[in-house]
Amino acid sequence: MSFWNRHKIFEKNSIILIAGILAVISIGGLVEITPLFYLKSTIEVVDGIRPYTPLELTGRNIYVREGCYLCHSQMIRPLRDEVERYGHYSLAAESMYDHPFQWGSKRTGPDLARVGAKYSDDWHVRHLTDPRAIVPQSVMPGYPALAETEVKLDDMEAHLRTSRAVGVPYTDEQIANAKADLLAQADPDNAGAEAFQERYPKASVRNFDGRSGNPTELDALVAYLQMLGTLVDFKLYDEKANLR
Ligand code: HEC
Repeated sequence: MSFWNRHKIFEKNSIILIAGILAVISIGGLVEITPLFYLKSTIEVVDGIRPYTPLELTGRNIYVREGCYLCHSQMIRPLRDEVERYGHYSLAAESMYDHPFQWGSKRTGPDLARVGAKYSDDWHVRHLTDPRAIVPQSVMPGYPALAETEVKLDDMEAHLRTSRAVGVPYTDEQIANAKADLLAQADPDNAGAEAFQERYPKASVRNFDGRSGNPTELDALVAYLQMLGTLVDFKLYDEKANLR
């Protein structure tokens, strides 16, 4: 029997054919999967990425709770139209501390991966309270209750500890100061503001909702929105990666 005729054995017997298919696929699978067991991380280390501050993390939870992801993605694809509209394409490292990540693909509203520092805090406060006051044709719902609801402080420490259990590198110091740091970030006059900024480089300390009193859910959500996409210096990143 010539070599090519032996193929008939496979074609005439489905069990042998299935065994043959499985053998070939598993070779391909092993080539792809085996290296992953020997790599510590598949995410490139990028300067500037840090875990969320307690206030930002609280804002992120509100973002998830309110279902903002149903209309907004947080991933800029490396395609020209996206990069020209939203900015530098997203890096894996930018969402490495997201549990769960907020990439999404549904864009009833614009992508928010780089919305940080695009508008003022006051813009966000007014827009979140009543989107149509700013964009008359907007279909985004208003969230006026956020300004009236104070954030929960007592579970912050446990929240950071839980994040650490799934791989976010919060230090013992950051965990011990979780509640104090949350208060400090929303109040520039807080005595702990400086220590907070040492623990979270480049984090802004501001009264995000513009009202006095304890931090509200609006403070937290605006703090989160204002940091999105701002951690990496992309001029430096592209120079390092030889893209410019
Ligand atoms: C029903 C869909 C929908 C939901 C839910 C929604 N949005 Fe929007 N969002 C939009 C649309 C549409 C726009 C564009 C018009 C506008 O600016 O209001 C928008 C715009 C925005 C913008 C301005 C983006 C830019 O670059 O101009 C921000 C910030 C924003 N949304 C945040 C949020 C947050 C935070 C939540 C959750 C609390 C949320 N959105 C929930 C539809 C939605």
